[in-house]
Amino acid sequence: MMLMPLLLTGGAGFIGSNFVRDWFETGGGPLVNLDKLTYAGNPRNLEGLAPGAQHTFVHGDIADRDLVSELLERHQISAIVNFAAESHVDRSIHGPEDFIQTNIVGTFRLLECARAYWSGLPTGRKEAFRFLHVSTDEVYGSLGPSDPAFTELNRYEPNSPYSASKAASDHLVRAYHHTYGLPVLTTNCSNNYGPYHFPEKLIPLCIHNALAGKPLPIYGDGQQVRDWLYVRDHCSAIRRVLEGGRVGEVYNIGGWNEKPNLDVVRTLCAILDRESPRSDGRSYAEQITFVKDRPGHDRRYAIDARKIESELGWRPSETFETGLHKTVRWYLDHAEWVRQVTSGEYRTWVATQYA
Ligand code: NAD
Ligand code: DAU
Repeated sequence: MMLMPLLLTGGAGFIGSNFVRDWFETGGGPLVNLDKLTYAGNPRNLEGLAPGAQHTFVHGDIADRDLVSELLERHQISAIVNFAAESHVDRSIHGPEDFIQTNIVGTFRLLECARAYWSGLPTGRKEAFRFLHVSTDEVYGSLGPSDPAFTELNRYEPNSPYSASKAASDHLVRAYHHTYGLPVLTTNCSNNYGPYHFPEKLIPLCIHNALAGKPLPIYGDGQQVRDWLYVRDHCSAIRRVLEGGRVGEVYNIGGWNEKPNLDVVRTLCAILDRESPRSDGRSYAEQITFVKDRPGHDRRYAIDARKIESELGWRPSETFETGLHKTVRWYLDHAEWVRQVTSGEYRTWVATQYA
């Protein structure tokens, strides 16, 4: 109860909207959801929340000091969970500016507003206040084939404009704790997958392209390794850190599921072959196409999740196989969501709804 009302940022995106569902389904109280509704933010991701959900959606930017300060005061916020970010590595390579603006400047402004508000709270509420920053394993850089998995002590070696901007935001969060005493928590998670994942990322893109009869683009040799975690397991980990994490600490979150990209896409094709066979009876794997590699492509990520497991008793509930099966089924059952997202129709709806 101490952590409510919660201010969540970026809650109309992939992980944020899953977190909102998870929050209310597990009995969470009032939640204010601040989202700028970029191309990746979709209010329809928030339709059909659990009955009685005390959800307030606010269309706005984390970099808007006046708005954030007003929300903190008006709702008497007890904790902030910062998901808002530009999140796609390939987009950061084509155009880094938005990443600098939201991931660095936006996080800085959010921290400034949080600091001012938190400083004025009475003692008990001040001690209970939390600022949880959601970050990524990409800040640690790339591993060699036999390197140990990333622990919280690995040094930062970000390689893309996206991961550099997330690294900068992590440093700011850390500095606000050390300098001002703001009670922060940081989580660094591996690759998520699951429902409401925007079809620009590997797994939803390949499901969408497979069903549309298009090529499944594999960058380079397809042997880059990612550590996959079902999105609801990430949400449960964030809740655990929010409730029991030690202030000022970093928690790595991962599913112990290292897979080369080519294996991921082949597994995906095998599930699709069973769940929605091609009309010609051939395998979707025949659509796999090798394309030009991503510039500066990180070869391998792997998360050592022992700290969150031992300190907070968190464990993922899905294996890669069960999680991927659920994900494929969700996309097959939500063809209309995919159609709206890929047609841009929801953006028209946003313009109408929030004009
Ligand atoms: P996403 O791109 O699906 O969603 C981002 C959301 O943030 C969108 O709803 C967007 O409208 C909103 N947003 C963007 N700029 C904003 C701003 N200035 N103010 C308010 N809202 C803004 O991203 P995601 O995949 O859900 O990732 C969420 C967070 O988790 C990010 O911080 C990302 O770095 C981190 N993360 C993602 C993964 C992953 O595999 N997707 C893994 C680890 C960490
Ligand atoms: O590790 C956590 C990160 O995971 C998050 O911080 C990012 O927000 C999230 O986007 C994700 O980053 P990746 O770059 O790992 O995810 P993406 O789905 O874009 O790519 C996964 C792997 O698949 C990567 O090695 C690149 C490759 N790939 C991707 C696409 C889109 C392809 O081979 N073909 C593709 O078309």
